[in-house]
Amino acid sequence: MLLHLNHILTAEEVRGARALLGEDAPWVDGRSSAGAQALGQKQNQQLAQDSTAAAELQQLVLGALQRNLLFFSATLPKKIFNPLFNRYSGDTNHYGPHVDGAVLRSHHPAQWVRSDISCTLFLSDPAEYDGGELVIRAPQGTQCVKLAAGDMVVYSGSSVHSVEPVTRGQRLASFFWIESMIRSPEQRNLLFDLDMNLLKLRQQYGESTETTALTGCYHNLLRQWADT
Ligand code: NI
Repeated sequence: MLLHLNHILTAEEVRGARALLGEDAPWVDGRSSAGAQALGQKQNQQLAQDSTAAAELQQLVLGALQRNLLFFSATLPKKIFNPLFNRYSGDTNHYGPHVDGAVLRSHHPAQWVRSDISCTLFLSDPAEYDGGELVIRAPQGTQCVKLAAGDMVVYSGSSVHSVEPVTRGQRLASFFWIESMIRSPEQRNLLFDLDMNLLKLRQQYGESTETTALTGCYHNLLRQWADT
């Protein structure tokens, strides 16, 4: 699974987020939150997770996710790790190939989150920096992702991934994980496929006995598989 979600944040929200991620923001060494395998690969900076700036930014991102129906349908979230924020620039400009921990400790609220799905929300425009591609190694092939500010990629939490060195400018982003109500990627993808096609059927032909019945199938599958 790899999905590009457009305009998670509005241009105004991106500006607001970036105002809180300036030079005077409480940046710390990104290695403070890395697991053993990732530790040697990680060379970036992160916003102190318990700072007031982070609290404000977390609310901004979580609020934006809440209004995005495509995000909800694709991920069917049970828990969302409190969004984290990072910066790649200068000497701390890359993150080599690594895997994220399977179970991670979120602070707000304090809880364990299984990393079924990884999310990266881009906060810098691609024209502002060179390099910094998010490289995701998937069974179908390797994908290089570099999106417009405000756009987000969601991908399988089980993927080996890396961030290429930023050789000019700076790359700001938010990243976090989702524990889905649907643990199986196959079941989750099937539900997403069904939901998206139902949406298109409705747009094309309006509501009918068949779309109502198929919506019932969607919810009955969700009811069978969801862990809430
Ligand atoms: Ni990672």
